[in-house]
Amino acid sequence: MTRLSSGNIDLDKRLQGGFPEGECVLITGEPGTGKTIFGIQFLYNACQEGKKCVIIATEEVPEKIILHGKALGFDLEPFVETNQLTMIHFLELRANNLAEGYTNVCMHIDDLNNLAHIIQDDVDVIILDNLGTFSIGIDLKQFRDKLDTLAYVLSNQKRTSLIVMDATAHELTHRIAEYSTYGTIRLMTKENPYTGKMERFMYIPKMRGTKISLDIINYDITEEGIKLFPAKANR
Ligand SMILES: Nc1ncnc2c1ncn2[C@@H]1O[C@H](COP(=O)(O)OP(=O)(O)OP(=O)(O)O)[C@@H](O)[C@H]1O
Ligand SMILES: [Mg+2]
Repeated sequence: MTRLSSGNIDLDKRLQGGFPEGECVLITGEPGTGKTIFGIQFLYNACQEGKKCVIIATEEVPEKIILHGKALGFDLEPFVETNQLTMIHFLELRANNLAEGYTNVCMHIDDLNNLAHIIQDDVDVIILDNLGTFSIGIDLKQFRDKLDTLAYVLSNQKRTSLIVMDATAHELTHRIAEYSTYGTIRLMTKENPYTGKMERFMYIPKMRGTKISLDIINYDITEEGIKLFPAKANR
């Protein structure tokens, strides 16, 4: 299986080289666990490898994503300038629709499927941050069905995609999204029972076609992005 680097060398080692190319991986976590930074790191690396990329952001505006990336040493701006990276601010699209007289501005997962269909053929990598925005208020069966379709379409088009989903929407949808995607990574903060301090942990419950360890991985968010602690520090 061909792999695409996650942008984190230590995580790649735990994934037999990286994310399975052309497949869809879900990343979930509570606020501030580093989901967006994880996405920026992956995106920056994919751009550096010459992949054509798109990020669909539902909350943060592109300018802020660029700013946060720069602060961590992942400067996405040159890739935007050369059109290798396209940043789509979903909320802005909806707001423009409202300005043009449309009354329904709720984000609907159908919009996402439509968008996946119109993304240029030569795009290799897609990041969606945050799927949770589309899951609230629709019934579970419909959500599962639409997400299955999205994951199928993206995989059929051989696009490697990273879908971010906030933990609240993920719990409200009974973590059903994990069945639709090829792999899942959960980010969390927990009290370390040995030190009594809150620490960051990453858990990979699933990555199809990949030998993974179910060990919980200790990580931190540093000024150079997400860093995994050496294996011996992990349990
Ligand atoms: N330059 C930096 N140096 C160190 N830590 C940073 C830096 N920038 C951000 N962080 C840490 O990363 C956290 C935010 O990460 P990120 O925005 O990726 O979280 P998130 O999981 O996407 O949150 P949300 O659910 O709100 O979207 C901050 O709360 C901060 O602790
Ligand atoms: Mg975020």
